Amino acid sequence: DWTMESFAQRAIKEIKEQVGDEKVVCALSGGVDSSVAAVLVHKAVGDNLTCIFVDHGLLRKGEADEVVRTFKEQFQMNLVFVDAKERFLGKLKGVRDPEQKRKIIGHEFIRVFEEEAAKLGEIRYLVQGTLYPDVVESGTATAATIKSHHNVGGLPEDMKFKLIEPLKWLFKDEVRELGLELGLPESIVWRHPFPGPGLAVRVLGEITEEKLRILREADYIFIDELKKSGWYRKTWQAFAVLPNLQSVGVMGDERTYAYTIALRAVTSEDGMTADWVRLPYELLEKISARIVGEVKGVNRVVYDITSKPPATIEWE
Ligand code: XMP
Repeated sequence: DWTMESFAQRAIKEIKEQVGDEKVVCALSGGVDSSVAAVLVHKAVGDNLTCIFVDHGLLRKGEADEVVRTFKEQFQMNLVFVDAKERFLGKLKGVRDPEQKRKIIGHEFIRVFEEEAAKLGEIRYLVQGTLYPDVVESGTATAATIKSHHNVGGLPEDMKFKLIEPLKWLFKDEVRELGLELGLPESIVWRHPFPGPGLAVRVLGEITEEKLRILREADYIFIDELKKSGWYRKTWQAFAVLPNLQSVGVMGDERTYAYTIALRAVTSEDGMTADWVRLPYELLEKISARIVGEVKGVNRVVYDITSKPPATIEWE
């Protein structure tokens, strides 16, 4: 009979046999798939696995810390933490076009990863968190890894690694179950999908440190309230967006001219279509009051009530 425990044991045994004493590298994003794949491979090859985590400066509040805490401290894995904030934000200076942003980030990500992997010496294998639906959708697992839209962490085929894809027979709910079985924290197992280009496609138009700060704070409050009220688990994705928009407001007897924050929360099966979530007015009110009250530079909050299609989930 088939249990997640027996699946894990079999997968670990197979990875051991496949890899032997060779070295393995993994691009860890902190998302469910790459996290579960990394922990599974770590159980099989231990210190022969090195994970590379790139902080491109477009992560959410607390995200990098959580990755370090979980993988380095809890699981004692070899984790190379690359602080590439200045490098990415430098390249993105003055760039407004969404596809241009994606291209720059994807390209830079691969370069940073290659540089770091080269420092590790002779590496034979690369771990990918490819799932069954990705394999089906694109024909082969390798093709799935280079679908740039859904996986900026995907690496080019000309990197001479052999792939380890231990999740390629699993669906998302099974990956979560496996993650819990392997001892991953619920905060990672139930994490919403987060795009590879991160906050770059949620700060509309030009990216600045100030806009990133505002978006991080607002997003953190939104997610915090969703978690506290039980709505986080009922949504596929929820996040704040910073449209490139300032408007007039009033605070005390002063006029303000400050940013608008847009909130987005959707349900979906696979991201291809999505429905906006009917969050309770009381909850939206609380979130709005907290964001305007706590985040300097924001005087207005709006809620996105469009489904996909015709809108997309992200705003860029
Ligand atoms: P859209 O906005 O196209 O998003 O409705 C569908 C799903 O894809 C995610 N998304 C991305 N993921 N790199 C990624 O890794 C990207 O450039 C990217 N753009 C969108 C989005 O978050 C949603 O889950």
